[in-house]
Amino acid sequence: MPQRVLTGITTTGTLHLGNYVGAIRPAIAASRAPGVESFFFMADFHALIKCDEPDRLAHSSRAIAATWLAAGLDADRVTFYRQSDVPEIPELTWLLTCVTAKGQMNRAHAYKAAVDAAVAAGEEPDAHVTMGLFSYPVLMAADILMFNAHRVPVGKDQVQHIEMTRDIAQRFNHLFGQGRELFTLPEAQVDAEMELLPGLDGRKMSKSYDNVIPLFEGGAQALKDAVARIVTDSKLPGEPKEPEGQALVTIYDAFATPEQRAAFRAALRGGLGWGEAKQQLVALIDGQIGPMRERYASLMAHPEQLEAVLQAGAAKARAIAVPFLQQLRAAVGLRPYTATATAATAKASKAALPVFKQYREGDGRFYFKLLSAGGELLLQSIGFEQGREAGQWVARLKREGWVADAPVQREASEADITAALAAFQDD
Ligand code: TRP
Repeated sequence: MPQRVLTGITTTGTLHLGNYVGAIRPAIAASRAPGVESFFFMADFHALIKCDEPDRLAHSSRAIAATWLAAGLDADRVTFYRQSDVPEIPELTWLLTCVTAKGQMNRAHAYKAAVDAAVAAGEEPDAHVTMGLFSYPVLMAADILMFNAHRVPVGKDQVQHIEMTRDIAQRFNHLFGQGRELFTLPEAQVDAEMELLPGLDGRKMSKSYDNVIPLFEGGAQALKDAVARIVTDSKLPGEPKEPEGQALVTIYDAFATPEQRAAFRAALRGGLGWGEAKQQLVALIDGQIGPMRERYASLMAHPEQLEAVLQAGAAKARAIAVPFLQQLRAAVGLRPYTATATAATAKASKAALPVFKQYREGDGRFYFKLLSAGGELLLQSIGFEQGREAGQWVARLKREGWVADAPVQREASEADITAALAAFQDD
């Protein structure tokens, strides 16, 4: 079983250099390792909790998707999707909500911070708390458990959410697993690197400190302008400078080879001026980011390309999510009336795949139909003279997925059919 690694980025705002160095670059590098199956997604349902500006959310989602791809993510190799394209996630959220202790959610850091702020301002404790904010950790648990991720790379502030996910998963397994581990218990992976990049003022690079270097927005000029604002000491050109502890040097390190790092330090100790050093830093960063920025601009100019990548990603994600949710629904007792109590659970894993049925009708013609994992009719073919013709179409649909001119009647949404057919391509 490959290691499944999953992480999401909330789609509010655009990404900065710290997000690139701390999250995106290592995630893409890790996704290339053998034996790893990566899931990356735009957490746009999470963004709704914090954002009531629809256009801003929509732009941010598009910009973040383009950023991942521009930075070198191979969407064929990983599963790359929008959370909101996978309706099984909010459905799973409800199943999990029903086994989550409210008392545990009361202890979530983000919720407590909102309460503390309200109390400090002399307001009702829950004055600014929506149910979305309160239930944030449950939605995040659904993100992770939907795909049974083993590892979740996150920043330190998210570790509590992974612990909550484990608790929720354990409780669900205990209540409904009948001895089976329906959910894998995920591990948080907090890389030292994720906290590393300092901002212009030397504190951690963060939007909330207004000390960020933009990644692509504003082009090379914005990069130059931001680097010009990096705080240094006031030593003049020609004076020897101590490189260690300088934000400028730490940022340089994030893009440099060991040789470049040593040479940069030697130059500063030898009196290199800060202005000159900043020019070198801009050149170094732009050498790596510049080509990505061009890809980014091209993706932003072609939303239809981006959309196609994400639709394909959603189909891939749903090929896992749809049958798994079916199994979970059966486990909690949401079953077709035709399924008997024990059979439903015992057969759940077998029933978890869509099936093609081929048969001959009284009219002497040959037919096929596609049934979902839950037994609902998705596709109904026309009648064929030859059984072979029906068989060939079944084979082709299994191989290629949905084919627009297939001689069939669609009985469900195209998204459901695409997702069901994707299950055949996987095996
Ligand atoms: N809460 C995460 C953050 O703000 C984003 C996120 C949403 C996430 N769902 C996730 C991260 C699932 C990892 C796994 O950074």
